[in-house]
Amino acid sequence: MKKLLEILGDELKKAFREAGYSDEKVTVTVSNRPDLCEYQCNGAMALAKEAHKAPFMIAEEVVAKLSDSKCFSKAESVKPGFINLDISDEYLVSYISDEWKSERFGLETEEKKKVVVDYGGPNVAKPLHIGHLRAAIIGEAVKRISKYIGNDTLGDIHMGDWGLQMGLIMAEMEERKMEGMPTLDELSEIYPAASERSKTDEEYKNRAMDITYELQHGNEKYLKIWRHIMDISVTDLKQNYDKLNVSFEVWKGEADADPYIAPMVEKMKKDGIAHESQGALVVDVSEESDAKEIPPCMILKSDGASLYTTTDLATLVQREEDYDPDAVIYVVDKRQELHFVQVFRAAKKCGIVPDTTKLSFLGFGTMNGKDGKPFKTRSGGVMRLESLLNEVYEKCLERMRENGAEMSESELKDTAGKIALAAIKYGDLSNEARKDYVFDIDKFTSFEGNTGPYILYTMVRIKSILRKYRENGGSTDDITMLPPANAEEKSLMMTLTGFVPMIEGSFRDLAPHRICAYIYQIANDFNKFYHATKIITEEDRSRQKSWIGLLMFTLEVLETCTDLLGFDAPEMM
Ligand code: ARG
Repeated sequence: MKKLLEILGDELKKAFREAGYSDEKVTVTVSNRPDLCEYQCNGAMALAKEAHKAPFMIAEEVVAKLSDSKCFSKAESVKPGFINLDISDEYLVSYISDEWKSERFGLETEEKKKVVVDYGGPNVAKPLHIGHLRAAIIGEAVKRISKYIGNDTLGDIHMGDWGLQMGLIMAEMEERKMEGMPTLDELSEIYPAASERSKTDEEYKNRAMDITYELQHGNEKYLKIWRHIMDISVTDLKQNYDKLNVSFEVWKGEADADPYIAPMVEKMKKDGIAHESQGALVVDVSEESDAKEIPPCMILKSDGASLYTTTDLATLVQREEDYDPDAVIYVVDKRQELHFVQVFRAAKKCGIVPDTTKLSFLGFGTMNGKDGKPFKTRSGGVMRLESLLNEVYEKCLERMRENGAEMSESELKDTAGKIALAAIKYGDLSNEARKDYVFDIDKFTSFEGNTGPYILYTMVRIKSILRKYRENGGSTDDITMLPPANAEEKSLMMTLTGFVPMIEGSFRDLAPHRICAYIYQIANDFNKFYHATKIITEEDRSRQKSWIGLLMFTLEVLETCTDLLGFDAPEMM
């Protein structure tokens, strides 16, 4: 379906041509002076110079050509040469009726691409902490948006499962002369103990490094323990991500890239792209246009060990073989930006991915506490993801009890869980991903303001009106939407026309926060409309039914958007 702004733009282009001008610089935008008009066109200003005419005169001539346009109820020229436009009510309602009936509200897939989203990135056997929260939340949203746009999309968790933490655990198990395999609880105690000890005990750390080396070179004894740790950890991770409504199509990790390293390194050497530097093997990735020097990408350390860059490159080799993606999007802490600049450049330079493959890095900022420092527990420790979720959940439960929500205990808990998830996810996603933000539990769980619970509250309000309407015997078959009855209704309709460009922009710029801004606008528009209109008691049946249609449409858009963000609304709250 053609976008509304394009249709309005075409209408203006036609008028410019009919008035004898070029239509090249003519576009229509949403007005930045909503007190004066709804849309505007500044084409006459841009043309004045080449036409050797006052912009106002051009605008006058163009406006005269718009007098019988079906799109506008008002087209006027104002000094010095702007064209102010209002959309006609009839045209607006015909547009949104089409939009409502169209699949995906008229979104068209231009070209279906194969996309891999690399997000989550938990380190196996270490507890999930809040640093992994943003990766999971933002990555899941980006993946869902990519799918919705129509891309063939895979989410890959890319676990850190092949590093020193494995050696540390096994060293500690040997130290304790453990006979059997560790349980999850034992693991969560063994790893911190081993990590602590390795900080002061050089010999112990060396042993852990040796074990890591042995493991990576096929020692069957260690591999057996590794497989066990992977089994129990993956089960646990799945449960944790489940609570966040996050899931992955591909459960691969750094270990899976290991077999690709040796042949990849061989090829880099043979092609003469990797060279030795102070005993290490590196690929130069600096470019002349760099403002800051980009250091060479290290492929192998002088002792032959591979690095974080090596596994990421080898993972790209594997992804090429397995999926041949058109794009790979990494959702990782922005402090890893340099790493990804190096990896992307090396991948292209070594021909690991074709030039046409788009590699993107969506680096996110830090989640801070109210003191502006990275979020910690009250005692100053690293916050476990589970504890954070519980804290927010308890807060939501408390708020609902305060509000006197009338529902059974199990419904109450279920609903509090949904609100908590919305509070956390919306609190995170409503900020531009690249920026740091302050995690403020009181603000995030509030039912008012720019919050997840406010969005859910609005959806619940719509659901409740629809329920009442149906209970009163109202039908939702063959709804004809009527032109807006008041300014509030018109505003809501106009906002609804922005869904498609908003979604396309949020994927193009990897910007889920645009979806949040959009649904906040819808919620505000809807609530103003709701307060200005008596829907349930309306006596004019066709008017009432038209409003019900608008409510259904609004709810569908909100549901689509919250689903893309990874949460959903309860029936009541
Ligand atoms: N495991 C890493 C960490 O915790 C994140 C992995 C990000 N993804 C990647 N392909 N490097 O820092």
